[in-house]
Amino acid sequence: MFTKKTIEDVNVSKKTVLLRVDFNVPIKDGQITDAYRIKQALPTIKYLLEHKAKVILISHLGRPNGTVKSEFSLSPIAPVLARMLKTKVVFVKDCIGKPVETALDEIEPGEVLLLENLRFHPEEEENSDSFAKQLAKPADLFVQDGFGVVHRAHASTDAITRHLPSVSGFLLKKEANTITDVMANPKRPLMAIIGGAKIADKLDLIKKFIEIADIVAIGGAMGNTFLSAQGVFIGDSLVDGNDLPLAKDIIRLANEETKKRRFLFVLPRDVVVSEKVEPNALTRIVDFSTHVVADIENYPKRVPHGATTVKKHEKILDIGPFSGSFIAGITQQVNTVVWNGTMGVTEIPSLIGPLGPFAHGTELIIDALLGQFGYRPYSLVGGGDTVGYIENRGLVDQFNHVSTGGGASLELMAGRKLPGIEALENK
Ligand code: 3PG
Repeated sequence: MFTKKTIEDVNVSKKTVLLRVDFNVPIKDGQITDAYRIKQALPTIKYLLEHKAKVILISHLGRPNGTVKSEFSLSPIAPVLARMLKTKVVFVKDCIGKPVETALDEIEPGEVLLLENLRFHPEEEENSDSFAKQLAKPADLFVQDGFGVVHRAHASTDAITRHLPSVSGFLLKKEANTITDVMANPKRPLMAIIGGAKIADKLDLIKKFIEIADIVAIGGAMGNTFLSAQGVFIGDSLVDGNDLPLAKDIIRLANEETKKRRFLFVLPRDVVVSEKVEPNALTRIVDFSTHVVADIENYPKRVPHGATTVKKHEKILDIGPFSGSFIAGITQQVNTVVWNGTMGVTEIPSLIGPLGPFAHGTELIIDALLGQFGYRPYSLVGGGDTVGYIENRGLVDQFNHVSTGGGASLELMAGRKLPGIEALENK
């Protein structure tokens, strides 16, 4: 249960509200390519505008390392936001000082200022108290709604709360409640599907799910590391050597759990390989456990060696059809699925969708979670890549909950306290 005050617990009418959002969205050639985080911030902004507040939006974008870099400017967001809100949104070229005060005088209650990237000042990431004081100066109230960044103790998530009364927005409350509820009281069976590249980034998450879930299924590039840890030759596949001991440790933990209770740990048993990562790449399926239905008439003819082994120059780029169907099949028998990380190489736009040569595993899971096979489990989707993929496919509204947080949702799921939530006022 969320125990922090929200904007509904305080008087926001006609106040000047400093609203921290996470507008860290992908921008290419000045165009926003994925506006999911902005759309999710709208209910809080609209509520404040309806109460005739002056709203000062603050956010970071990317990692400019404390210097002004034009490619990390938040300016392209102002016109998009103005269209979404149907109200005036004035962009201010700094986030502290005179420019903010002047701009604030020029807007009416019910209008918005969008300030420049907080991270153009090194003091933001240093959690500087004097910087927070300057941020706070023009406002009466601080509202935290940047769920994606509350795992960081920065000036705009932590120090700021020592200078203004500080409460939560609707998005932060929804994210925190939904994620902690699923982790604490899931409708079982609970399944976690975890993909993506680095095991180290998701180590705590995987361990947590081995502890609490009924099924954990692994895909994506981290699947390569698990295969390699089991002694499978993975050719030229992406693998992080530092992750190998972690993979071995996780396999050991999963095996121990399997002995203790009914628990299933699923690693890919077949994969899609190719020598090239491109839309028209020639692919082939390698089935480590020879589930290939060979020539029935000549059964039990042995499958050729190549069908069960990755070649030296080949890379594993997706889970195979057997593994995909197996994972999709399990989703049809559980009540809750938490999904974090795509199953194959999907980050390049030309590789996504049903025609993407390495997207079939991910597409199969999407179909299963969205009820294409007749049943729809509760689905909670988290993590940057996965959300980017389903947003690109226009499917984001169809899952039960799609988190705006990458690192923040991972840390919350792993059971950590997040500094940007802790710092807010209790009810
Ligand atoms: C994210 O994209 O996960 C958040 O915006 C936080 O960004 P950061 O990892 O650069 O702090």
